[in-house]
Order: sequence, then C-alpha cells, then structure tokens
Amino acid sequence: MEKPTKRILSGVQPSGDLHLGNYLGAIKNFVTLQKEYECFFCVVDLHAITVWQDPKVLVNKTREVTAAFIASGIDPKKNNIFVQSQVPQHAQLAWIFNCVARMGWLNRMTQFKDKAGKNSENVSVGLFSYPTLMAADILIYLATHVPVGDDQKQHLELTRDIAQKFNNDFNTELFPIPEPLIFGEATRVMSLRDGSKKMSKSDPSDYSRIMLTDKAEDISQKIKKAKTDAEPLPQNKESIKERPEVENLISIYASLQDISIDQVISEFSGKEFSVFKKNLADLAVSKLEPITSEMNKLMDDRSYIDSILNKGKDKAISVAEPVLTKTKEIIGFLP
Ligand code: AMP
Ligand code: TRP
Repeated sequence: MEKPTKRILSGVQPSGDLHLGNYLGAIKNFVTLQKEYECFFCVVDLHAITVWQDPKVLVNKTREVTAAFIASGIDPKKNNIFVQSQVPQHAQLAWIFNCVARMGWLNRMTQFKDKAGKNSENVSVGLFSYPTLMAADILIYLATHVPVGDDQKQHLELTRDIAQKFNNDFNTELFPIPEPLIFGEATRVMSLRDGSKKMSKSDPSDYSRIMLTDKAEDISQKIKKAKTDAEPLPQNKESIKERPEVENLISIYASLQDISIDQVISEFSGKEFSVFKKNLADLAVSKLEPITSEMNKLMDDRSYIDSILNKGKDKAISVAEPVLTKTKEIIGFLP
C-alpha cells in the first residue's frame, strides 16, 4: 500500500447554514492548500446526526456544503469531494477506534462538555464518541495533514493519540501521526454579538453570524449592528487583547483581505467604528457575494452536484478499502 506524504482530509458538517467562521477558518484554507496537496474533502453527515437533524433539511444541506466547497474555489476535478455516509469504511474504522481510545481521553473533550452542557445524561452516545469517528475519517485515508479551525485542535490531538496507540499496541507503522494545519488571521471567528463565544451554526441569534447564504443587505446590517465599544480603533495589536469584539472584526477584515492584523490597524487606527464597519461590510459583500451566487447556481443543478459526489465516493472507497483491509488483518480479523 502506497504511503502518502502530502495528503489532506478535512470535514464540514451539513448541520446548518455555513457561516463566516467555516469559510475563514477552514474552507478558504482548503482552497489555498489544494495547489500543494492531494485533498479529500468530506461532508460529514454521520457527525451531523450526533444531534437531531430534520431528514429533509439534512439531505439539502449535504448538497449545499458541496456547493459551498465548489463555489469557494475548490476544483472538483482535482480534489475528492464526497459524503461520509456513502463511504462505509469510516464507520467501520470508527468502531475499531472506539476500542482503542480510552474513556479518560474522551472525558477530557471540551467540545462535548460545551455541547452536552447540563444535559449530559440525555445527549446521544454518538455525541460523546464523535472524536473517534473524526479520527477514522482522517486515518482511513492515511492523511498526513488536516486543515481545521482552532476549535478542532483538541480532536486532532486525540486523533494523533489514537494513531499512536494503535501503532504501539499492534506493533505496526500503519497510521501516520497527522499534523493540524491551523493558519490565517481568523482561525477562531467569534460571534458578532459576544466576543467571548465562537461564531457557530447553533447560536440562536442570526445576528451573531454571517452566513454564506446571506444577501448583501443582511451582511451589511449584521456588521453595522455588531457589538463594539465606545473607543475608536486601536493604535496597536497589544491594545486589542482586552477588546475581543474589536479584535474579532479586525481579524475578519485581515483574513478577507489577505493582509495582516497589523496592516489593518495601521490603515484604520484612531478612526471611528462607523467608518471601519462600512469598509468591512463592503469588503465582506465583495468577497462573499460571488460565492453565494455561485452556490445558488450550483444548487439549481442537483445532478451536477450528485455526479461530483458519486465520483468522489468511488475514489474515496478505492483509497479507504485497502486501509481497512490492512487494519483488520493487523487486528486478527478473518479476511
Ligand atoms: P463544522 O461546521 O463544525 O463542521 O466546522 C467545519 C470547519 O469550520 C472546521 O474546520 C471548524 O474548525 C471550522 N470552524 C467552525 N466554526 C469556526 C469559527 N467560529 N472560527 C473558525 N473556524 C471555525
Ligand atoms: N469535527 C469537525 C467539526 O465539527 C468536522 C470533522 C469531522 C472533521 N471529521 C473531520 C474535520 C475530519 C477535520 C477532519 O468542525
């Protein structure tokens, strides 16, 4: 079996509308990385059902995430875009990893604690074991690199621990120890309403996030209403540390414009927020509008999207199946 040296796997859940955090923290970086890596981009519907999903909405969102990948600039001819539930090897390897990962490791996962909250007796078992499935997504392709937003760092450390323990337990070097790729000026985009909370699909307030399906007026309105403080824009990077909402808007600007935070500060320091927000709104609209309109166009052509996903599925299975066969042989399962 060939061992790749530069192979990427990353996943996005079809569990709601994609937002600016998904775009700047993950998808925009996928677009850059496709030039240098062999890429597998997965719409992770098995992860999505760890919390309740309306079936009619889920099927639509699965195609919508695919459309967002393509509309953002991922070339479907060059990369493999596919749906997790259509490649059964992920779930099969996840079971094996459930028997490798330790309860103590999973008990430390902060995303589970945040999502389960006080309701931990009543959430699905899948929500708890979610990171072992994520490890399987990555390792079933022997992926060496994983681009994600900052919030997934801990899950990637767990993936590395699982790969290491499997290799040690069975005295093999089958699984690579994958490297996270977390880069750009907006690795953790925060809510527009509260700089201490990350921008997320599940926030009840629509004004907390900019969606990739938002119209230009909505984007402008949301940025205009974004929480800030009474001071003008800061003079240097140090002074934004205690101003999380300000830091967030500046990071979003930097990332959208592909410049550094320092460059944004030197352009706007001392200016009123109304001026900065107007510039940010125009920038966000100019960058997101072409993606939104391409997404809408693609969503009108279901057969095209499904043909991409079918091709992606076949390729994904052709890579995943030999890895699963090898894993089973190592464990001592009958062929
Ligand atoms: P999810 O929507 O949870 O499937 O996330 C898909 C990708 O977007 C992952 O790589 C996340 O780390 C990234 N992501 C989600 N929310 C944010 C955020 N607020 N800021 C930066 N990246 C994010
Ligand atoms: N857990 C990731 C998130 O919520 C999504 C995901 C699933 C993923 N499998 C993955 C990301 C594999 C990277 C690699 O954001």
